[in-house]
Amino acid sequence: MNTLGRIFRLSLFGESHGPAIGALIDGCPAGVPLSTGDFVADLTRRGPGANGTTARRETDAVRLVSGVFRGRTTGAPILVEIANADVDSAAYAALEDLPRPGHADLPAHHKSGGHRDHRGGGASSGRLTAALVAAGVVARRALEASFVAPIRFEARLVEAGGSADIEAAVAEAARLGTSIGGVIEGRVTGLPIGLGEPFFDTVEGLLSHALFAIPGVKGVEFGLGFQFAQESGDECRDAILARGGRCQRNVSGGVDGGMANGNAVCFRLAVKPAVSFGELRTVSLSTGEQRVLAMSGRHDACFARRLPVVVEAVSAVVTLDLMRLSGRVGEVVGASEGLSRD
Ligand SMILES: Cc1cc2nc3c(=O)[nH]c(=O)nc-3n(C[C@H](O)[C@H](O)[C@H](O)COP(=O)(O)O)c2cc1C
Repeated sequence: MNTLGRIFRLSLFGESHGPAIGALIDGCPAGVPLSTGDFVADLTRRGPGANGTTARRETDAVRLVSGVFRGRTTGAPILVEIANADVDSAAYAALEDLPRPGHADLPAHHKSGGHRDHRGGGASSGRLTAALVAAGVVARRALEASFVAPIRFEARLVEAGGSADIEAAVAEAARLGTSIGGVIEGRVTGLPIGLGEPFFDTVEGLLSHALFAIPGVKGVEFGLGFQFAQESGDECRDAILARGGRCQRNVSGGVDGGMANGNAVCFRLAVKPAVSFGELRTVSLSTGEQRVLAMSGRHDACFARRLPVVVEAVSAVVTLDLMRLSGRVGEVVGASEGLSRD
């Protein structure tokens, strides 16, 4: 399924080298102020430009095709379309027959019975993260307009290639003509205590589910995460300091029993390095022979540096759905103000 969420439902569409990509959003409350200008800052943050990012230059022009009237959402499905302007498919011609290891190429070939769009990773491309960012903008606007207490979403790259000196690590990777991954820390503050629907629609479960949709994310941990497995109970237990849930160390990363526990929700993501450069060992889909694929296309030396805004967006999308599931955000926001306009 290409749809995320129960009430605030998000589907992505488009391919890296097709005419456009975008997000189809159902279940957004009516009355949320929304315009194309709202998307500019976050899409610019996701775009390339920093040292070590791709040479592809997209303007990321947004078109609100449906679901918005007179500057407010109507409650009908919202289609956000983002044009693909800087497309160079020539470098990807060989991928039709030679799938890249570590990419969706081979499983997508088999899944589609040979009908996949191979250009630039097709529907599995990192380009689709622009649509995730757009959905995050809608979710944040809806949360802001819903008169719930402010919820903040923050993410940052804290390590690249195992080093905290990100600029130096990326510069060195670029100099060597290689690529590096990174660790992103995410933080959501202001979630109401008790948010989350155990056993299955837990805060950890839904966030991880959505974060793993970001191409290249290979690990997610909350709080102490894997360190819990190494520490004894008396080393890693926390202390509750207040009825509202405030803990001394927040070792659980803000989630206990699948529900927000009154502390910041804190998680870490492992992002892998780009692998599609130089010579790749693979097989020919037409002959079955082992072959070497020489990649000449454009790749990021450290695409992880483009992902914090995507992580924030995904966190906002999941949060809005959880807030709707728990009844804290309804069908309509700002109703009286909206009605007085007509
Ligand atoms: C913004 C962005 C840019 C990416 N650029 C590249 C790239 O240049 N080369 C590459 O090998 N992978 C790149 N990736 C990662 C691949 O898309 C990803 O590894 C691949 O689709 C397989 O998915 P998986 O790693 O989650 O299993 C990028 C991902 C994102 C989100």
